[in-house]
Amino acid sequence: MKKRIFVTREIPQVGIDILQQHYEVEIFPEKRPITKDELIKGAMDCDGLLPLLTDKVDIEVMDETGIKAIANYAVGVDNIDVKAATQRNIPVTNTPGVLTDATADLTWALLLSVSRRIVEADKYLREGNFVGWDSMLYLGGDFAGRTIGIIGLGRIGQAVARRAAGFDMNIIYHSTSSHPKLESQLGMKRVSLEELLKESDYVTIHTPYSKKTHHLIGKKEFEIMKPTAYLINTARGKVVNEEELVVALVTGKIDGAGLDVYYNEPKVNKGLIDLPNVVLLPHIGTASLYTRSKMALMAAENLHAALSGERPENIVNPELYDK
Ligand code: DGY
Repeated sequence: MKKRIFVTREIPQVGIDILQQHYEVEIFPEKRPITKDELIKGAMDCDGLLPLLTDKVDIEVMDETGIKAIANYAVGVDNIDVKAATQRNIPVTNTPGVLTDATADLTWALLLSVSRRIVEADKYLREGNFVGWDSMLYLGGDFAGRTIGIIGLGRIGQAVARRAAGFDMNIIYHSTSSHPKLESQLGMKRVSLEELLKESDYVTIHTPYSKKTHHLIGKKEFEIMKPTAYLINTARGKVVNEEELVVALVTGKIDGAGLDVYYNEPKVNKGLIDLPNVVLLPHIGTASLYTRSKMALMAAENLHAALSGERPENIVNPELYDK
């Protein structure tokens, strides 16, 4: 009998095709995040689970369903209790690398949109207000010679830094590890979080979410930032205290924000919705056709490796294999 896989939402067919060569594959058919009960029911007695970042895979899900491998369709694995999976000998995999450029590109789309007021200006034109060139119309920020502060210099942070060099910016970063080679290539500098917040015209977040990064940016941090600064977040919503972000935007502690992620997705703080100086996107950082297909392929290959007793290339809990 073929092993069974449960996929919690439609993903690009290229990944499903790989899985169907070896397994019986069931896909949750609705165009919405699966509920916990539906997840447990769907994955019951399955061998492999391919969840999305919207799906919480906790102890209950693991123990009730008896799944043997989890291949997350995301690089971030904060939706999965990895510790519990490791204790249960369940390999967990993710999709790093293939989504780096798409996420860095979208970070830049947000930087440019919020600073140059693209969304506001587009709305103004569509509403029929454009009556002729105006020297004072939608004045925004500059990039060349300005400072960008990158929090977290993993793959995506580095890709953002490379793009920033192309915009002739001063680049500073805050990270748990130093990157001397990239520092000399791009002329960038590693600084403390406080210095980064103090110096940056643009602060962009690229750190994974964990207990350590929960509310990394809050009231105290907004106090330190320049009143002309912009905050960009394409990482995870909970890295920022969203209530304090709204206060900072309303009271002019910072000038604007570009967000792709939220504290309690898919809910978006009403305070943000009403503000003109923020650009809000529905978590589409990796949403390029190529990237999403590569993620599907990678997740499928990871799952197949794990279920075949091999070490998956993108293993999140390597201790299962390094015993
Ligand atoms: C990720 O991979 O973690 C992104 O947030 C969604 O693709």
